[in-house]
Parts: sequence; structure tokens; C-alpha cells
Amino acid sequence: MAARHLLLLALVCLHAPHSASAQQPEEATVIVKGSTKIAVTDVNYICATIDWWPPEKCNYNQCPWGQSSILNLDLDHPFLAQAIQEFHNLRIRLGGSLQDRVVYDVGTNSPCSPFTNVSNGLFGFSAGCLSMDRWDKLNDLFQKTGAIITFGLNALHGRYNVQRSFWAGKWNSTNTYDFVEYTISKGYPVDSWEFGNELSGHGTGARVDAKLYGKDVIELKSILRQLYRTPLSQPLLLAPGGFFDQQWYTQLLQTSGHGVVNALTHHIYNLGGGDDVHLMRKIVDPKYLDRAEDTYRDMQLTLQRHGTWASSWVSESGGVFNNGRQLVSNTFMNSIWYLDQLGMASKYNTKVFCRQTLIGGNYGLLDTQTFLPNPDYYRVLCYGIGLWAMEFCQSI
Ligand SMILES: *[C@@H]1O[C@H](CO)[C@@H](O)[C@H](O)[C@H]1NC(C)=O
Ligand SMILES: *[C@@H]1O[C@H](CO)[C@@H](O)[C@H](O)[C@H]1NC(C)=O
Repeated sequence: MAARHLLLLALVCLHAPHSASAQQPEEATVIVKGSTKIAVTDVNYICATIDWWPPEKCNYNQCPWGQSSILNLDLDHPFLAQAIQEFHNLRIRLGGSLQDRVVYDVGTNSPCSPFTNVSNGLFGFSAGCLSMDRWDKLNDLFQKTGAIITFGLNALHGRYNVQRSFWAGKWNSTNTYDFVEYTISKGYPVDSWEFGNELSGHGTGARVDAKLYGKDVIELKSILRQLYRTPLSQPLLLAPGGFFDQQWYTQLLQTSGHGVVNALTHHIYNLGGGDDVHLMRKIVDPKYLDRAEDTYRDMQLTLQRHGTWASSWVSESGGVFNNGRQLVSNTFMNSIWYLDQLGMASKYNTKVFCRQTLIGGNYGLLDTQTFLPNPDYYRVLCYGIGLWAMEFCQSI
């Protein structure tokens, strides 16, 4: 534990000094004052995501998802279990843009249809479906590997699109109720349920009013209280898993009220889209990277003023949005961005940081085709959870 906190302090220091330009490296001595604590992360700070994107998800004429989604990933691949186990209780967050249109195939009478691309669908896709057989298999893997699970729920279920990106109507909680009930009946230990994905503020594809959202979060809390029975067995409730917007997040806290949301979650994509020609320059520019600091600071202030009962998590962060960028966000280069973010987020008392992705897109810790680790994977093992004794850590 103590070692871990020290390590995070070290990460903070990595990000602190910015003197010379990126082109002229200079030697520097970093002194870590281990006696002073500025913030504390959760013991399991490191987290990675698995997304819903089907193989047909393309950006810039590239379709980098293949068989890497919650629905089609090869769960028996030996490298996958091994890679998760190395972390000793890796947090995995299951979610992403399409999660809000997922139907859980329990208590429904309709066929369990996969996501298909349709021209008028949200993000270009139809609704999709998670079969309970697949959910069982996923949980087999998670239990075998000691993963700690956050699951993102379908916050658009039952709502309707009114105009442009605006969605109205009440969330229909029936499907979630049945799904959580099934999960409990099987004894699957979900650590936290997250409500919605990128529906806050202006949204990404869709957005929902903060007051409406707050009321639905109250309903979700009461479902969890009802189904889990004892307070000790209650998973955490996370929301809204979107881009930070001070007014919207404040309203969510005010509407949902004391003790309802356990962690406010937000997403960080501070580098630009996968087609941005300046990505590499931005990654090595400390001044550019530091801009993300405002978001962490504002989030911390919002919690201090309006939600002292809640903490802050980054539930998804890929740096480069729209699938990441081939040969940038899955290479050594990206670890500069990644370590910087881990340090910066921890400094502002962020408890958990979920990297987009464990596998999938052009930003996986593991390669989508070979399941072999990319450089970020090793870096986070060595710096993030401190496995210094391991041979590969000596060489980086
Ligand atoms: C669906 O995706 C495939 C593969 O990217 C593409 O060939 C097809 O035209 C798309 N169909 C629609 C309706 O967008
Ligand atoms: C909510 O969805 C269920 C199916 O999951 C349906 O039977 C029910 O009628 C819906 N409730 C409302 C109020 O629309």
C-alpha cells in the first residue's frame, strides 16, 4: 500500500516539471517527498475497458475493432486471461457508446439481435443484445482472473429521440432490474454499476437533461437497495460516464441527492480525433497535456461544493477519440500521454482511471489480432502498479 502511494507520487512528479522543449532532453533530478500525501487513489486505481463496438465500426476508412468487443471477444484466448492476471485484480469497465442501446436478454420475449449498422441509428447502429449465456462466459473469465467489474447500464432504454441529439422520456428500468436480479442469482460480484455513457452536457451522440437523469439515478439506487438487501453487499453506483460539464454534473448531484451517486465518472479524450495530424506533437508537449488539468480541478471543486459523499473516477480515457490512431495510440509514444494522465488524475484525488481499452480499437493495451501486450501494457505494470522486480521492468 505504502509503496503504491509512493509510486503515484512519483507519477505526479513525472508530470510536474516542464522546462526544456520536447526536442532537447535535459537531465533532471526528481526528489520525492514521501512523507507528504496530497491525495489517495483507490487500491485498484488501474482499470481498462472492453467496449461494445462491432467489427463494422469504422473511422477514416479503418475498422480496428474486429473480434474485440464484449459480444465477440475470444474469451478463451490464453493470452487474455494471462494479461489480466498479471495485474492482480485489474479493474475492467464494460461500456462505451453503444451500451445505452443494449438489451439484456433476460425476461424479454424478443430475439437477441446483434448490433447492425443502420443509416439512421445512434452512432450508425441498431440496438443490440447481451445474451445471458455470453454474460455467464464473461463472468467465468472475470472470476478466473480476479478482475473487478464495472458494468455500464442502458440509460437510454425506454427513452425517445425528440430533436437532434436530445432524448426525452423516463428511463425504463425493467430490463436492468431483471438483469441485476439474474446477476445476483448467479453470484457474479459486480463491483459497480455505471448509469449511461456520454449523455451528459452536450452528449456525444445523444444527450439527456440532468434533472431527468438525476431522477432515474434515484430509481436505480432504489433497485440496487431492493435487490442486494444488505448494505454491505451493495455495489457502487456510478454516473454519468460522460464529458465533464460543471452545470450538468452539479444538477445531477443536486437532483439525485445525498449518498445516491457513489462516484461521479467522466471521460478524458484530450488529444484530438484519430485523424488529427498534430497528435504526436501534442503527446510530447507538456503545456498541451497540462490543459487537461482544468477538468480534474473543476471536477474536484464540484464534488467539494455539491457532493462530498461522492468521489471522482475516470471511467474511460483513450486520449485519441474515434478509435484512436494506428501507430500512435498503440505504440510506445502513447505511454507518455498515459503516464502523465495517471499522475495528473491521481493528484486531483481521482480514485480510478480506466484506460480505453484493454483490447480493441487502436488504443488497446493488448493488440486486437495477436492479444500480445503493446508498450503501454508494460509501462503501466511497472510504473502504475509497481512490479519493478519483473525482468521487463528493468529494461524500460
Ligand atoms: C455497414 O457496414 C459495412 C462494412 O463497413 C458496409 O459495407 C455497409 O455499407 C454498411 N451498411 C450500412 C447500412 O451502413
Ligand atoms: C418497460 O419495458 C418492459 C420490457 O422490458 C415493458 O414490458 C414495459 O411495458 C415497459 N414499461 C413502460 C412504462 O414502458
